[in-house]
Amino acid sequence: MNAYDIIKKKRDGGELSSEEIMFFVQGLTSGTIPDYQVAAWAMAVYFRGMTGRETRDLALAMADSGDTVDLRGIEGFKVDKHSTGGVGDKTTLVVIPLVAAAGVPVAKMSGRGLGHTGGTIDKFESIPNFQVDKTPGEFIAQVNSVKAAVVSQTGNLVPADKKLYALRDVTATVDSIPLIAASIMSKKLASGADGIVLDVKVGSGAFMKSSEEAFELARIMVDIGTSAGREVVAVLSDMDQPLGYTVGNALEVQEAIATLKGKGPADLEELSIILASYMLLMSKQVPDLATAQQVIGELLHSGKGLQKLREMVVAQGGDPGYLDNPHNFGQASLNVTVPSPESGVVSGIDAEKVGLTAMRLGAGREKLGDRIDHTVGIVLRKKRGDRVRAGEALAILHANDPYRLEVARKSLVEAYRISTGAHSFPPLLLGVVTREGVERYV
Ligand code: URA
Repeated sequence: MNAYDIIKKKRDGGELSSEEIMFFVQGLTSGTIPDYQVAAWAMAVYFRGMTGRETRDLALAMADSGDTVDLRGIEGFKVDKHSTGGVGDKTTLVVIPLVAAAGVPVAKMSGRGLGHTGGTIDKFESIPNFQVDKTPGEFIAQVNSVKAAVVSQTGNLVPADKKLYALRDVTATVDSIPLIAASIMSKKLASGADGIVLDVKVGSGAFMKSSEEAFELARIMVDIGTSAGREVVAVLSDMDQPLGYTVGNALEVQEAIATLKGKGPADLEELSIILASYMLLMSKQVPDLATAQQVIGELLHSGKGLQKLREMVVAQGGDPGYLDNPHNFGQASLNVTVPSPESGVVSGIDAEKVGLTAMRLGAGREKLGDRIDHTVGIVLRKKRGDRVRAGEALAILHANDPYRLEVARKSLVEAYRISTGAHSFPPLLLGVVTREGVERYV
């Protein structure tokens, strides 16, 4: 067996055997298959696709390419959540404490942001001294005592994905459904949870621009998880505009805290409750989804979710005073209003463009290793469907650099579409995929 024959077979539309996939993943991880052959193979997969069986084999081989997390030291059914990546997506900060407050252990490994999408770890680090690096023993001990912990992905978790993703990123092969499904599920399987709720985003700010592609991705990921003996549910949600009103790390944490106080935006609250409810339902502590939603809604509105976030922050070395007084979060030095150039109704907000604007303000990384500025970002004042008059604020930019501010001001105006006609918009929740099948809401 050799890499050349495997690339050629895929290039010509063949189906790779389990052994060939295993050989290729082991070779790319150890470096015996050089980057140029891995890149060529990724492009062949991009054009030829993979069968469900090949995608499953790829995910399992990648999950086994490095360390795996053993969560057996945690009592009970362990749950995890994952978003396929969005803009303004701070649901993890709301969902983890709600699920933990319901008594279900959440052992969460998260990544940092790259490109236009933010990362949960960067958001948590907006709280001074919040520690995201823990030994496996400390991680497990915290989940046993607090029921929740969020840590940065360990160095040797799924090294095959680290290498392959870096090559995909520079060879225009990221947006391939089998490669995305295997990439996400390999990390979820290696992270050890018994139940996984996937938030599959659809729209301009997501990898999946159409709901057809998103349902396919969801179905494949549920199939991979199920075949590996995990419980998996995928919720499909709209990412044709940012979630909530804030984009940028400390700004998003403040919005998540407000949501746990019952004062958050309706879309963020709705999505957080449904994701948390599926996580609770999986643990079999409630008989049905309606009961799960009732329990989670009550934990949110009673402040018990916020109390759980406080316990998490304390356990991870952060200052819980920030939850009581969000004004403690540092402010960017320049706060500038972006006025609407015309009157009408906001008919669209290009979420990817908003994410890129926040990144250029310094809220995200253009390349791995860039330092981020937790204080900068965007607060939207108008969302899809809102009326706006010429000169009225579309958004407020929070910046620390006048040059970056100017660039951001221009690109934010371009992200808004304002028109005068009547419009209808998709709902926030588009459907659910479980091992039993697909339910579409629209
Ligand atoms: N997120 C991942 O982890 N991998 C992908 O390929 C795309 C999104």
